[in-house]
Amino acid sequence: MDIAKETLTEQVLDAFSETPSPRLREIMTSLVTHLHSFAREVKLTEQEWAVAVQFLKQTGDITTDKRQEFILLSDVLGLSMTVVEINAPKDSRATESTVFGPFFVEGSPEVLNGGTLPGEAPGIPLLISGTVTSVDGSIVPGALIEIWEADQQGRYDVEYLDQGSAGRGHLYSDQTGNYSVWCVKPSYYSIPTDGPVGRLLSSCNRSPMRPAHVHFKVSAPGYKTLVTHIFEKGDPYIDSDAVFGVKDSLVRAFKYHADPAPENSPLAANEWFETEFSPVLQKAES
Ligand SMILES: [Fe+2]
Repeated sequence: MDIAKETLTEQVLDAFSETPSPRLREIMTSLVTHLHSFAREVKLTEQEWAVAVQFLKQTGDITTDKRQEFILLSDVLGLSMTVVEINAPKDSRATESTVFGPFFVEGSPEVLNGGTLPGEAPGIPLLISGTVTSVDGSIVPGALIEIWEADQQGRYDVEYLDQGSAGRGHLYSDQTGNYSVWCVKPSYYSIPTDGPVGRLLSSCNRSPMRPAHVHFKVSAPGYKTLVTHIFEKGDPYIDSDAVFGVKDSLVRAFKYHADPAPENSPLAANEWFETEFSPVLQKAES
């Protein structure tokens, strides 16, 4: 059968029309329509298409359990934040979400409430504390709080050659919904630039920098899981995040203390920071 240029898109859509799942059919129909339209709009050359295929191959080649280049690609394209916005909590009292990012690792070590993230990531101690509540103000005891962060060099544990766990862990809110944990003050950082996504940013004259932040994933039975960050107020990159993740409601002042940290803090520090973050969870949709 001769496939005329004018009817090609139509015929591809027709080929997907028997997809049993209505949702998959909807997604494939829209994807094909937009992809064809995009290629026609920019008059994509065969050479450019080959470069794109090679780019995706390289993105796959460099991806491991600890190096998620596809998430990074989605992040710098603003697709991750678009998906976050589409699925944002409907209740405006709930804590806002932001990007998941490429550095989450399943199975982080447990830390006791009030304890220190294990692994001794280098940096000045930062005490984070708060209360997990529901949008109606009731406390949420036993919430699983997963935390991960870059150290004072702006690097995550998985970016070091030894691959030891540091700057990440999980704990639970206590019976009063409270939690506290000693981390280190994170630094702003460059997202990885040694892969295809970094080369793309460079080609487009884009900054790879992210403002300092601490990642949180908070989950509790009956509630929508919250994936978010807190950002440091005053960070030089707060208005130019490479992955478009900053929201005003997530910016926190890190209060500086020029005195010895309390006894239970990590390291024998003579200075420390503290901040507050109280996640507000929205009930899961039934
Ligand atoms: Fe991060």
